[in-house]
Amino acid sequence: MRVDVAFAPTALTQTQVHGRVVFVIDILRATTAMCAALSHGARAVIPVSSTEEALRLAQTIGSTDMLLAGERNCVRIPGFHLGNSPLEMSESAVRGKTIILTTTNGTDAMLACHAAVTVIPTAAANLSLAAERGREAVEAEQPVLIVCAGRNGDFALDDAYCAGRLIAAIFGSIKPRRELNDAGLASLDLVRRYGDRWERPLLYSRSGRELVRRGFRADVKDAARLDAYPVLAQFHERRVTLVPVPFAALRAGYA
Ligand code: MLT
Repeated sequence: MRVDVAFAPTALTQTQVHGRVVFVIDILRATTAMCAALSHGARAVIPVSSTEEALRLAQTIGSTDMLLAGERNCVRIPGFHLGNSPLEMSESAVRGKTIILTTTNGTDAMLACHAAVTVIPTAAANLSLAAERGREAVEAEQPVLIVCAGRNGDFALDDAYCAGRLIAAIFGSIKPRRELNDAGLASLDLVRRYGDRWERPLLYSRSGRELVRRGFRADVKDAARLDAYPVLAQFHERRVTLVPVPFAALRAGYA
């Protein structure tokens, strides 16, 4: 049984990712926004790494069913339909649409993991279902990797706390040790420190403070809502789409 955490995707090699079940966390806000979009009926989210690539892809898709979304420095990219706020991903905005998304850290973190068995965007918004999938992997002795998108290649408190919460939910306790690398142990320490109050580490983090400063406090609050957008999605063949979830798992509140 092995669950490793990477605090930033920059140092990941394809060998570390290969053959693993990978959970990618960018709670503020890319993975929360993906969960919001898919739970509100978006057909798919296509993560891309640059504005130019987004525009190029938009031309090839070129239909009315497509939306361009993304941010730089927390602010919507000029000319795009949407930014990166989960609150913008309302049903009326996204139902039936394919969303091309590019963000500062979150989308690159997803792209860095494409060689994995499965890549699951994870946040507080879908924590119980992600943990359920993690437990399944651990029971089947499939190695798990939790990748924090981080901040410009660096540690991010918000993502690391979410990684700790995911580990605690997978194992049903904050005590696993043998199975974890040091980043996993440190993530669990954050859960001991902040307890189960998501908003504290999120608001305290650099990304959280930046979002508040730029007028997105409501987004931080939204990202702190446990199981607010309960979807299990996977990144496969360039797209993030919903994974059908058994009814029993939908009803269970595991986290
Ligand atoms: C990112 O990918 O860096 C974040 O999602 C940025 C943001 O939410 O503004």
